[in-house]
Amino acid sequence: MTQLYSALRPLIFLLDPEVAHSIIIKFLRLGFFVPEKTKYDPILKTDLWGKTFLSPLGLAAGFDKNAEAVPAMLGQGFSFVEVGSITPQKQIGNVKPRLFRLVNDRAVINRMGFNNDGHRTILTRIRKLRQQKVQGLIGINLGKNKNGRDPFSDYAEGIRLFAEYADYLVINISSPNTPGVRALQAKENLDRLLSHAKNALSEIAAQCRPPPLLLKISPDLTDSEKADIVEVILKHQVDGVIASNTTVSRPSSLQKRFQSEAGGLSGKPLFGPSTKLLGDFYKLTNGKVPLIGVGGISSGADAYDKIRAGASLVQLYSALIYDGPKIACRINRELAEFLRKDGFTRVSQAVGLG
Ligand SMILES: Cc1cc2nc3c(=O)[nH]c(=O)nc-3n(C[C@H](O)[C@H](O)[C@H](O)COP(=O)(O)O)c2cc1C
Repeated sequence: MTQLYSALRPLIFLLDPEVAHSIIIKFLRLGFFVPEKTKYDPILKTDLWGKTFLSPLGLAAGFDKNAEAVPAMLGQGFSFVEVGSITPQKQIGNVKPRLFRLVNDRAVINRMGFNNDGHRTILTRIRKLRQQKVQGLIGINLGKNKNGRDPFSDYAEGIRLFAEYADYLVINISSPNTPGVRALQAKENLDRLLSHAKNALSEIAAQCRPPPLLLKISPDLTDSEKADIVEVILKHQVDGVIASNTTVSRPSSLQKRFQSEAGGLSGKPLFGPSTKLLGDFYKLTNGKVPLIGVGGISSGADAYDKIRAGASLVQLYSALIYDGPKIACRINRELAEFLRKDGFTRVSQAVGLG
């Protein structure tokens, strides 16, 4: 796949970004790109939540919203793929255009608005995937419908349906493109949401071992909002935090024509703010809550910085658009070199060292 992508890249960049993305997903779904068998360096092996991640690097939510390309992407050097965000009902999302490449900034702005096939259709695909023997782990990222009546039951319903099939579940309350989602980060809302979520998990405990429950947060939180979130996640014993989603802020360095484009900014300009948030959460939780670092990673050095700031695992999306699928194996290789150079034998030894 990597050679084919490199050859097609100039053509892909001539297309509208969303059209290009749909074509790539179609090819991946049809098995057009046969995954190369990834060999993982043993130093990258990471044990977390009773699971073995062959590398700490995963594919972030949003690339494969509908679980159409999981085996193909697991074959590219991502040890885990996060599917979603998935909402109870199918949604078409916001009006187009809603996805923008900021090539000079190595960034992306999106205001997709949770376009996805909905719980039932995606659940069928995930069940099928579970019958296949795929090398790697699958996270399921849950969202809420734009016009849903009750956001708390949207998430709880997703937990009940997907718990049996997920290596981990994510409550995404940080997407800037669906009204009301980020308000769920406020203390009282979050407390209520996590009570619902934990109840849903205990309901299914008789059928299956509940998977770890993670919260995905925004890089635009104030210090007092961060402290509130930490208090609530410790109270409800949330298993992990993903830092972070896209930002609504616009650094002054950004190309002028995109400064006022609405939506979430990701890629290179997000690296600093999301790594700061990650470090803040590592300190506020005394390193006791496993963190997934995401935002602006495009090299082994970036991944290593996230790990040293407190991430047990890392993810990326935007850099895949610019560098293509070869990026995962490159990051794995570079990260292994950094770990060895600093005398570590396992990723976990570097977590939070600063
Ligand atoms: C086009 C696009 C769609 C996304 N959709 C979702 C989503 O549905 N749910 C979610 O939790 N994050 C979503 N994200 C955010 C990514 O998972 C990730 O948190 C963010 O892009 C930062 O990582 P990056 O800089 O490596 O892209 C999306 C990102 C992009 C670029």
